[in-house]
Amino acid sequence: MQQTTHDVLILGTGLAGLRAAVELCIQTQGAADIGIVSKVQVMRSHSVCAEGGTAAVMRPEEGDSLELHAWDTVKGADFLADQDTVDRFVRTSPDEIRLLEHRGVPWSRRDDGRIMQRAFGGHSFPRACMAADKTGFFEMQALYDTLVKYNSFKRYDECFVTSLLLEGGRFAGLTLFDAPTGEFYVLRGKALLIASGGLGNLYGFTTYSQTVTGDGQAIAYRAGLALEDPEFLQFHPTGLVPSGILMTEGCRGEGGYLRNNQGERFMEKYAPKMMELAPRDIVSRAEMTEILEGRGFPGPDGLDYLQLDLTHLGAERINKRLPLIREVCIKFLGIDPITQPIPIRPVAHYSMGGIEADIDGRTKVENIWAAGEVACHYMHGANRLGCNSTAECLVWGGITGGEIAKYLARGPTLSDVPDRQAQDEEKRIFDGLLKQGGTENPAQIRRELRTLMDKHAGVYRTGESMQEGLARIAELRQRFRRITVQDKSRIYNTNLIQALETENMLELAEVLLFAGLAREESRGAHSRTDFPKRNDVNFLAHSMVYYTGGKPRLEYKPVTITTWTPVERKY
Ligand code: FUM
Repeated sequence: MQQTTHDVLILGTGLAGLRAAVELCIQTQGAADIGIVSKVQVMRSHSVCAEGGTAAVMRPEEGDSLELHAWDTVKGADFLADQDTVDRFVRTSPDEIRLLEHRGVPWSRRDDGRIMQRAFGGHSFPRACMAADKTGFFEMQALYDTLVKYNSFKRYDECFVTSLLLEGGRFAGLTLFDAPTGEFYVLRGKALLIASGGLGNLYGFTTYSQTVTGDGQAIAYRAGLALEDPEFLQFHPTGLVPSGILMTEGCRGEGGYLRNNQGERFMEKYAPKMMELAPRDIVSRAEMTEILEGRGFPGPDGLDYLQLDLTHLGAERINKRLPLIREVCIKFLGIDPITQPIPIRPVAHYSMGGIEADIDGRTKVENIWAAGEVACHYMHGANRLGCNSTAECLVWGGITGGEIAKYLARGPTLSDVPDRQAQDEEKRIFDGLLKQGGTENPAQIRRELRTLMDKHAGVYRTGESMQEGLARIAELRQRFRRITVQDKSRIYNTNLIQALETENMLELAEVLLFAGLAREESRGAHSRTDFPKRNDVNFLAHSMVYYTGGKPRLEYKPVTITTWTPVERKY
């Protein structure tokens, strides 16, 4: 089988992957030979969809502080965040903003010329640095533009990675399917960074691009790395009904209201101080309660909704600070938020858990790092604050890029590729999955999976419902064994790629529900009506889920508490 070698492989070309590549180029002065692999093209990574902003303390003289940002993050996380990691995060993110400033991000500006920062949920100071409501797009552009100045990387666009090869406990290579050519080959590297993003397409109603299917988590899990805190899946309070497109929290940061069918600003009942800018777990639960108690508006396909009202903000503010929101509402629904309220409801948005990685982003395999949403650096705990995600991608992109540069400087060798395993993987896919003629349609299995996750792993959960969800996933996995991939060619076989994605999604859905069922408490985004209270005695701990080939194995790991002991969260 063909093999190609680089010093470093970066899997994923979103904010974390690009930021790491830039750091590697800076630290090695362009000497590191980097292979950048993505199943899409660079600027199609989901990070371009990030809207509202990037959190950083930029104005200590106006009242913000690193301690305040850290406290907001830890409290928002329902105390499941490791506090040493949060401390490093808040200290590093202002430098990331300055770096992007120098690399050309067109930040929105205040009248005095300084970077504009708007309010975001759960933050007690306006600290979302913003480029209107297209922040991720501009950040990605600035990083990619910086990267092309270095002539030391090769792009592997539209390449679907199917497995991670280890030899002697070290990373050896990736097996991948090159969609445009149909070739299957091995990419080797002395080090690997996994930065392949989230898994939001496990859900039917989601803010994510269709491509976000958790492939990086799935290959790492099958290779033996732990998935940490997978049960904590964030629901963003404002997904556009019926598409699920993100209506940025910046809408509420700019002063938008949430209303029920009585015209009430219902957040008064749930978070009287912070109102619409309470953390996302609290606002999403409030919305679901309003809907379940009959104060929503009837929506299509059971998607009852509430209203996000921006009409009092005025045309000038909306056009300047929320132009994308206005464009999307007009194009997708024919409504203009300048004069009409927007139909919204909670929507699957972010995975707090991911591949276990330490404060430097290193996994338990010495030459594999993870950064961005694919990783769990333990900093978001049970509920992430808005605009801490792009910041996390930048911070740990930078940290892991730097760590890998140091690692390369020590002169590591390449590991031998386990040829047999790579050949078996090719056979599994092309002689097995592609050739088999079964009765099941993988697209139908994927549809059913997403619907069942909406139902059994939503904002509110119960043991009984999660148990039922697990049983249905087991049935879907059985049915998956009998699929037919209709397109039998090798060139641009998106049918095959979607089948492989669905296989990954089935694995990860099981992991999420498995850890959720075991966590018999309510904490952050994991809200159980059968265990409505947080239980710090038994569950102030990270869930660690391991692949066994059969039923997953679950362990718990203590949370690092350095400064704040858990208290009741009030907003
Ligand atoms: O609402 C938003 O713009 C989303 C931001 C985030 O998830 O951090």
